[in-house]
Amino acid sequence: MSSVTLRTIRWPDIEAVHAIETSVFEVDPWSAEQFWGELAQSTREYVVAEDAGAIVGYAGAYLLPPDSDVQTIAVSPTAQGRGVGRLLLEELIAIAMRHDCAQLLLEVRSDNESAIAMYEKFGFESISKRRDYYATGVDALIMRLRPLRQDGERGES
Ligand SMILES: CC(C)(COP(=O)(O)OP(=O)(O)OC[C@H]1O[C@@H](n2cnc3c(N)ncnc32)[C@H](O)[C@@H]1OP(=O)(O)O)[C@@H](O)C(=O)NCCC(=O)NCCS
Repeated sequence: MSSVTLRTIRWPDIEAVHAIETSVFEVDPWSAEQFWGELAQSTREYVVAEDAGAIVGYAGAYLLPPDSDVQTIAVSPTAQGRGVGRLLLEELIAIAMRHDCAQLLLEVRSDNESAIAMYEKFGFESISKRRDYYATGVDALIMRLRPLRQDGERGES
């Protein structure tokens, strides 16, 4: 997706980001206030993806070297499947590397096939499962990328 660019999130972006959030997460989407709370913390870095001036995706990391977490990542339904998620995840990995993090962790619903497929393409491995973690009785998978690499190549295992 050549016309898509990434930049650091700004406060006024929260409205557009929150609109995407509610369109992709049917269960327990974050509130706008939660995004405000995230951006207020110095340990967080968020980026947005723009296409022709419109925000089409966003992602955020929690940086606590040597650890880091994917706090969230989402692409607008109409922009999915065109490489935006890959761009955003590459950027989170780059940010974690700049902060000298040794690994990047995340939590994902075990029934979220598209997200798990993307993470596995980057080499994330499932390291544990939290049973019935979500309200609807769905398990959470904890996945980890270690060592960090940004090229989206398959993992070693
Ligand atoms: C997960 C999500 C961010 C992926 O974004 P996207 O822009 O659609 O993903 P991309 O087009 O960049 O694809 C990235 C890789 O994942 C793979 N992928 C994406 N969707 C897939 C699907 N439904 N099935 C299989 N593989 C898939 C692609 O094959 C691609 O690999 P490639 O670059 O080698 O071809 C997007 O589906 C989304 O926003 N989902 C809703 C929110 C969400 O679930 N976030 C994750 C919470 S943990």
